[in-house]
Amino acid sequence: MKKLQFVAVATIIFLLHNLHETTADISSDAQSLLQFASSVPHVRQLNWNSTIPICKSWVGITCNNEGTKVIAIHLPGHGLFGPIPPNTIGKLDSLRILSLRSNFLNGSLPTDIISIPSLQFLYLENNNFSGEIPLSVSPQITNLDLSFNSFTGNIPETLKNLTRLTSLNLQFNSFSGSVPDLNITRLRLLNVSHNQLNGSIPSSLQTFPLSSFSGNELLCGPPLNPCPVPPPSMALRPKKHTKKLTTGAILAIAIGSFLLILLLGILLFCFLKKKDRDSVGELTIKAVPPGKNEKSDDFGSGVQAGEKNKLVFFEGSNYNFDLEDLLRASAEVLGKGSYGTAYKAILDEGTIVVVKRVREVGVAKKEFDQHMEFVGRVGRHPNIVPLCAYYYSKDEKLLVYEYMVTGSLSSLLHGNRGIGRTPLDWETRVKISLGAAKGISHIHSEGGAKFTHGNIKSSNILLTTDFDGCVSDLGLAPLINVLPTKPRCIGYCAPEVIETRKFTHKSDVYSFGVLLLELLTGKSPLPSGHEEVVDLPRWVRSVVREEWTAEVFDEELMRYPHVEEEMVQMLQIGLACVTRVPDNRPSMEEVVKMIVDLRSSDSSEHRGSSEDNRSKGSNVQTP
Ligand SMILES: *[C@@H]1O[C@H](CO)[C@@H](O)[C@H](O)[C@H]1NC(C)=O
Ligand SMILES: *[C@@H]1O[C@H](CO)[C@@H](O)[C@H](O)[C@H]1NC(C)=O
Ligand SMILES: *[C@@H]1O[C@H](CO)[C@@H](O)[C@H](O)[C@H]1NC(C)=O
Ligand SMILES: *[C@@H]1O[C@H](CO)[C@@H](O)[C@H](O)[C@H]1NC(C)=O
Ligand SMILES: *[C@@H]1O[C@H](CO)[C@@H](O)[C@H](O)[C@H]1NC(C)=O
Ligand SMILES: *[C@@H]1O[C@H](CO)[C@@H](O)[C@H](O)[C@H]1NC(C)=O
Ligand SMILES: *[C@@H]1O[C@H](CO)[C@@H](O)[C@H](O)[C@H]1NC(C)=O
Repeated sequence: MKKLQFVAVATIIFLLHNLHETTADISSDAQSLLQFASSVPHVRQLNWNSTIPICKSWVGITCNNEGTKVIAIHLPGHGLFGPIPPNTIGKLDSLRILSLRSNFLNGSLPTDIISIPSLQFLYLENNNFSGEIPLSVSPQITNLDLSFNSFTGNIPETLKNLTRLTSLNLQFNSFSGSVPDLNITRLRLLNVSHNQLNGSIPSSLQTFPLSSFSGNELLCGPPLNPCPVPPPSMALRPKKHTKKLTTGAILAIAIGSFLLILLLGILLFCFLKKKDRDSVGELTIKAVPPGKNEKSDDFGSGVQAGEKNKLVFFEGSNYNFDLEDLLRASAEVLGKGSYGTAYKAILDEGTIVVVKRVREVGVAKKEFDQHMEFVGRVGRHPNIVPLCAYYYSKDEKLLVYEYMVTGSLSSLLHGNRGIGRTPLDWETRVKISLGAAKGISHIHSEGGAKFTHGNIKSSNILLTTDFDGCVSDLGLAPLINVLPTKPRCIGYCAPEVIETRKFTHKSDVYSFGVLLLELLTGKSPLPSGHEEVVDLPRWVRSVVREEWTAEVFDEELMRYPHVEEEMVQMLQIGLACVTRVPDNRPSMEEVVKMIVDLRSSDSSEHRGSSEDNRSKGSNVQTP
């Protein structure tokens, strides 16, 4: 049912033009698939039948948005056996993803499949294909996995031409000959281990780890053992020559060491410099003279002396500090947000909290109290950053939140790209997005129709230590007096918000959709420096329309095998959320279901027992 819903949503969203013109196309795709099904025996039933609609109901089949072409086939672990005849799958001329891994397919791989010009992902591992790899491989290919088969012959030199290739898995076959010099900049993952390759590893591939090449007895050179030096012929190699080489080597070592020391020196210097700067950003608030507003950067400067203005704690909060403690804490500016400045405050006993100093609050104390009480109640959910306490006086409004050590999605996604970065893997990204979706969905259902978040963006999604996504900055929008000149949701704003300045549940859904696209593409929707603002949804749509689906994804994600199907599905969820017409966007609750569904279909696929789960009409329950 959920899948059906999803398909229904997708159908509404993606325009249904050219319907009649292309039905001929889809029926020829259907014909080719039926041919495949009838000639390849399969242990587990396929429900492919011309009497039911191919795009909506056929197991393992995904069509393009218009429903005119088959673009993906996923039949992993389906008990398919025997050879694939030519002129079946090879005739699907818009196919981008073919996954037939973990079956019992054998014989040679038909040339017409691997050369389908649109093919980007080919997963055939864990079968028993034999023979050589056909020479003409689709120039669009990004992921090629032929591991754990019985392929023989050379690894074709023509693979050099595949400039889009990011992942090549050929391990556990019987390839022989030498490894081609695949000087492909995008190549992130290479595995030719456990074959019968020989000769030396080309220099362009020496940066790959040892396990990419191991299990080839006759292969040599870095990262494996050095190649045996051919026995020197007396006539051609006089003694002097070897001596020269040694001098050269010594020189090289000397220069190398010098450079290393220099590098260490530079690093140490930078490190010290950075420490210096860090400590400058730290400000300690010792005592705050009441009523004095000089240290405008301290969060306590507007705190009034007297009994009435105390820190108000929320029910369930188990902190035991008071206002004095808070004002004594050492504070560090975390950032200036849409509503004011956030500080990290370290209290005497080591407790860390985040203090938000909210400016431009346009409501009186009573209303503020009521609103906070409401926000405190709505915000009680594992996927919402807990608000512990607040303080209200005429000159100062402080909100105290739990401190999340892992930081924000934004910093994990965009911070420290380059050397030393730990990439954010797909599993984690899905987990974060699901957490955030649950949080927002809870806000919508608990807060009622009028209560919106109004500021969903990656810097407002904070992470627990086990990378669950939590929504922060909840409930501040209604308190703020002035309308900012620029809408605060810039980059994430739904088009109607820019016009009306009114936030709704559906505008939150839009912002969340942008966040999903950000997770998938690794691109920030915020204008950076003097660059032009990228309209992320528009950019994604244009790339997807040009059929470069694979190009859309964050390069960092391309190194993980078997995630592309989920990525494509997540992309569709994201695009559904950023539909221009608000009513056509799914609700947050539906979005949660879609993400959960994506997970459940995935895990069943990995378990290799999935026909029922993969079938689009089935009622998938998450474990
Ligand atoms: C297709 O479905 C029809 C009716 O549901 C059935 O009679 C026919 O045998 C099916 N064909 C195949 C190839 O399964
Ligand atoms: C393919 O496998 C079947 C058994 O599943 C076997 O009978 C046939 O000989 C195999 N063909 C090749 C080319 O290995
Ligand atoms: C795979 O095929 C080869 C011959 O092509 C055969 O020797 C081998 O036994 C087959 N392996 C399996 C698991 O069927
Ligand atoms: C592909 O590579 C082969 C051999 O490496 C070369 O002969 C051929 O011209 C290349 N084709 C293209 C389109 O670059
Ligand atoms: C590698 O093996 C092939 C046979 O598979 C042989 O022709 C070639 O000479 C070998 N090359 C080296 C460098 O050993
Ligand atoms: C790889 O190709 C680039 C240009 O595309 C070239 O500059 C570089 O030297 C090549 N590297 C190797 C190891 O062949
Ligand atoms: C290559 O494949 C082997 C076998 O699956 C695996 O043990 C090894 O870790 C892989 N190496 C890389 C770099 O992927």
